[in-house]
Amino acid sequence: MTIPDVGRLLEDEPVHDQVVFDTRLQRYWPDLLAGLAGIYPDRAVEFAERAVEIAAVSFRHRPEDLRLLDLRRHADPQWYQHPRMLGYVAYADRFAGDLSGVVDKIDYLTDLGVTYLHLMPLLKARPGADDGGYAVMDFRAVRHDLGTVDDLRDLATALRRSGISLTVDLALNHVASEHAWARAAAAGDHLYRDYFFMFADRDIPDAYERTLPEVFPDFAPGNFTFDDESGSWVWTTFNHWQWDLNWRNPEVFFEFVDIICWLANLGVECLRLDAIGFIVKRLGTDCQNQPEVHAITQALRAVARIAAPALIFKAEAIVGPTELPPYLGVGKHAGRVSDLAYQNSLMVQIWSALATKDTRLFCAAMNRFPVKPATTAWGTYLRCHDDIGWAIDDDDAASVGLNGYEHRRFLADFYAGSYPMSDARGLIFGENLITGDRRISGTAASLVGIEVALDTGDEQHLDLAVRRLLLAYQIVLGFGGLPLLYMGDELALRNYYGFVDDPEHEGDNRWVHRPPMDWEAAERRHVVGTLEHRVWRGLRRAVSVRSDLSSMDASVETEVMDPVNPAVLVFQRHGSTQHMVALYNVTPEEQRLPRWVVPAGNWARDALNDEVPLSDADIVLAGYQTRWLVQPA
Ligand code: GLC
Repeated sequence: MTIPDVGRLLEDEPVHDQVVFDTRLQRYWPDLLAGLAGIYPDRAVEFAERAVEIAAVSFRHRPEDLRLLDLRRHADPQWYQHPRMLGYVAYADRFAGDLSGVVDKIDYLTDLGVTYLHLMPLLKARPGADDGGYAVMDFRAVRHDLGTVDDLRDLATALRRSGISLTVDLALNHVASEHAWARAAAAGDHLYRDYFFMFADRDIPDAYERTLPEVFPDFAPGNFTFDDESGSWVWTTFNHWQWDLNWRNPEVFFEFVDIICWLANLGVECLRLDAIGFIVKRLGTDCQNQPEVHAITQALRAVARIAAPALIFKAEAIVGPTELPPYLGVGKHAGRVSDLAYQNSLMVQIWSALATKDTRLFCAAMNRFPVKPATTAWGTYLRCHDDIGWAIDDDDAASVGLNGYEHRRFLADFYAGSYPMSDARGLIFGENLITGDRRISGTAASLVGIEVALDTGDEQHLDLAVRRLLLAYQIVLGFGGLPLLYMGDELALRNYYGFVDDPEHEGDNRWVHRPPMDWEAAERRHVVGTLEHRVWRGLRRAVSVRSDLSSMDASVETEVMDPVNPAVLVFQRHGSTQHMVALYNVTPEEQRLPRWVVPAGNWARDALNDEVPLSDADIVLAGYQTRWLVQPA
């Protein structure tokens, strides 16, 4: 099939621009076509042409400074893998009031070393409860209280000038029931009814329900909602006012191609593909992680690379170790889908290792991951705005002599603070009485014991809890990937129990770990001896040390070594110019490792500590200590 004629698509545009567009088209046309063939096999060529037309229009309107950014990204396509990358994740309103308030806080971010800012949903959501903004009513408008589209463009520009890439959420699986598409569908417009899943009776919904899990079993049970206006059952995986979109309808695909190009032209550099795993349904399955999800992502990415190559994708698929790798691409999709994906297993395993003071399950689980495509990166994190689901694989647990179900139960008890001796202060989220599943809400500081230590005024305990928090973040920073720091963790912000006073939040305890930024606490980061100073300084140091270590580049795979002393994690990273062995003691006690655990070599430097690195004797680590040993390759 011949590739569309750029002379026709970009008639009247300067020849140079036509050449630029054509170069990308030649490169990404095969990806686009193959992606579309995976979901719309009979009409892939026709749809690819239509998508390229949208890309061409968007390219014409792409502002000059973003075209320059495209050029820079062409010169350095792996920019998001560099060790200097540090993500920060925040709600614009909670962090700084509104979008222009965020501009005023850029210095705070650069002070911390931030190069990537994920602002939680900021597009216009439905009035009232909106799932933290994930019930979008208009993709082309900004939430009223946060500002305007111009403010968003200005913020993206200001961030870019400070070396910070802006990430925003794109909810692909659903829209608010108030969205114009849903309104038209409810009113009986056939074109729009096909954007959704609407059924006259319960027959088909019941057939699907047989194998569908429940995402919010306590406050939004079931996956279908009866809509009075249309007299039909509508697919609503999440809340009953979030209507799932039907991606088998190509019109939905084209709507999103257009939205993606539009957001890119505002200066958004990364799209977090919210709940991407849910977008394709298949009877008899859990309707998650279906193969077509990856075909669609590949097609969307190909169009984005043609129209605005500075834009990258981050997959939000909070799934187990078997389902996760395809989001960075395996087989024919390798390196052709999302550039980033959340490393959910790493997050869960860090919490599990801290609770058990044992790394064996961590090692078994992380070693199961296949090597990811070298062009992609994990988004590594300790906390995010969601609850923690205990995604412990039964087979992984069995391989180290644990029972998966019992271990998940233990973790829920431990982090809810109900296990003997636990100093965590989490809240149970999403309890499922049928499966026994219980997830956890809570800030990192409250989960590592800082809240309890402050309440009891026990200085020694506080010291231990701070070290635990820093260790956890050092693992996140040291794993390789794009580390994502969750707002407030740099100041050890504790649980925010005030969420119950807001009628729109009281039923969803994830708001306990979505606190308003405490700017007074932020000021204390400069005051020696304060909690904030200790945490900030520890994190800041690890971030800045990391940014100079070439072995931390996300293209380098982390090798998780077999546990010699189960209390200590050992990672090796072999970069082309630097080798690194990282040691993490997940216990409060001093630990020893035989010298041979670190391969022979000239380990002249412990990059994190001012300590003499190694002698021939055992390697000693203080409680919760991290060591980053490096040597030239
Ligand atoms: C994602 C978000 C979560 C939201 C859900 C539905 O998982 O992270 O907060 O509730 O999608 O949009």
